[in-house]
Amino acid sequence: MTVVVSNRGPYRFVARPDGSFDARIGSGGVASSLGPLLTSGAAGSDAAWIAAAVDDDDRAAVRGGAVDASGVSLTLLDLDPSTYRLYYDVVSNGTLWFLHHGLFDLPRRPRFDRRFREAWDAYSSVNLAFASAVADVAADGAVVLVQDYQLALVPGMLRRSRPDLRIAHFTHTAFCGPNSIRVLPTDIAEQICASMATVPCGFHSARWANAYSASAREILGAEAEIAPTFVASLGPDPDALATVAASPATAAASTALADTVGDRALLLRVDRIDPSKNIVRGFHAFDTMLAEHRAWRERVIFVARLNASRETMPEYLAYRNEVEQAAQRVNERWGTSDWQPVVLDARDDFPSTVAALLRYDALLVNPIKDGLNLVAKEGPLLNERDGVLCLSPEAGAWDELGEAALRIHPYDVDQAAGALHTALGMNRDERAARGARLRALAGARTPSDWLDDQIRSAG
Ligand code: G6P
Repeated sequence: MTVVVSNRGPYRFVARPDGSFDARIGSGGVASSLGPLLTSGAAGSDAAWIAAAVDDDDRAAVRGGAVDASGVSLTLLDLDPSTYRLYYDVVSNGTLWFLHHGLFDLPRRPRFDRRFREAWDAYSSVNLAFASAVADVAADGAVVLVQDYQLALVPGMLRRSRPDLRIAHFTHTAFCGPNSIRVLPTDIAEQICASMATVPCGFHSARWANAYSASAREILGAEAEIAPTFVASLGPDPDALATVAASPATAAASTALADTVGDRALLLRVDRIDPSKNIVRGFHAFDTMLAEHRAWRERVIFVARLNASRETMPEYLAYRNEVEQAAQRVNERWGTSDWQPVVLDARDDFPSTVAALLRYDALLVNPIKDGLNLVAKEGPLLNERDGVLCLSPEAGAWDELGEAALRIHPYDVDQAAGALHTALGMNRDERAARGARLRALAGARTPSDWLDDQIRSAG
């Protein structure tokens, strides 16, 4: 038996006016890749998934008995909303996400005080609720796959309550290094590392695995026993992508995109609106490219497909404003009566994303830090024009794709502008050679390879 444990489940349940619920695929890499895998039975017929009810609609679905997923026995935990907010907003997103992606403005944030301690208690109690739910459903000797930074304390708790289980923890994000982990209060860094150290810990890239090992060693000391790490990157599901690409919804979205882009070049990005994605500097780089290479004026459109994310947090709302203003500045500076240089597209609609991935001439992926970045792999697999991938080495996907991508320095805006110019102007032969190599590299691993690696590594 395999039990998957993650904060976000495979579906978000959205209430319909008639009182029933619509099950929509959750956002982010964990839900969108694990969901289809588990519901298709890839983890065996007796797989179970434990996740949180993440909002009021989810909680109503739990209470109404409407939580259902084919192929997997799904439990959503109906947690106290204010406890959940402290666990999710304050600790998971406001602290651990910022820590692992290097987003703190250290002279100002974080500040660990009494309010934070309350949030930490909430984080511990939610982790305990997850561990207890696993202990209730897991058969003797079951494999338990705990996902991500929201659940860093679950491995240690389960080790104590259920020594029979085979457990792995998989982090989908970057992991901070030994200097940064010292930002956390010492006892909290110890609890996180001590818990993770009890089970094999997996990462998308060797960089994050090494950073975790060095951090755990720093915090727990030279003599501590630390279970081994493993590196298992996720890859897109080529068949699922091909099905969406061939759908009528994608065809309609492609027609609409062709109307917008016309015969101009298309620069594309696809991201959640998150400070780690470095969206504002992407617009600055585009602005610099238009300033320095006049030939691109009127000849290129930058489509940014951006999904709203974590909007209960002031930092995310402020970042969204900065993103919108940066895009507007480029449009005001360079736009003409029949050319809007930047098109922001916030529709949460996968066929429209697929249509854009089929058509781009250059794809910009320039995160400050990113555990993997699945779009960097989905793009090359789908793209029909040998589009150039402009990739930050701070994305885990760089390990696998870097040799065929153009490097984008996440902070060096002039360098990034030069790389965008090179990408958009690259000759056909070089694009074809890079495109073929990228397709091979991006398709080398599937979601089931990744799941199998986790199951095999659990100990
Ligand atoms: C990243 C994390 C996931 C998370 C996703 C979306 O991919 O690794 O754990 O689910 O972002 O973020 P959210 O906070 O909306 O779940």
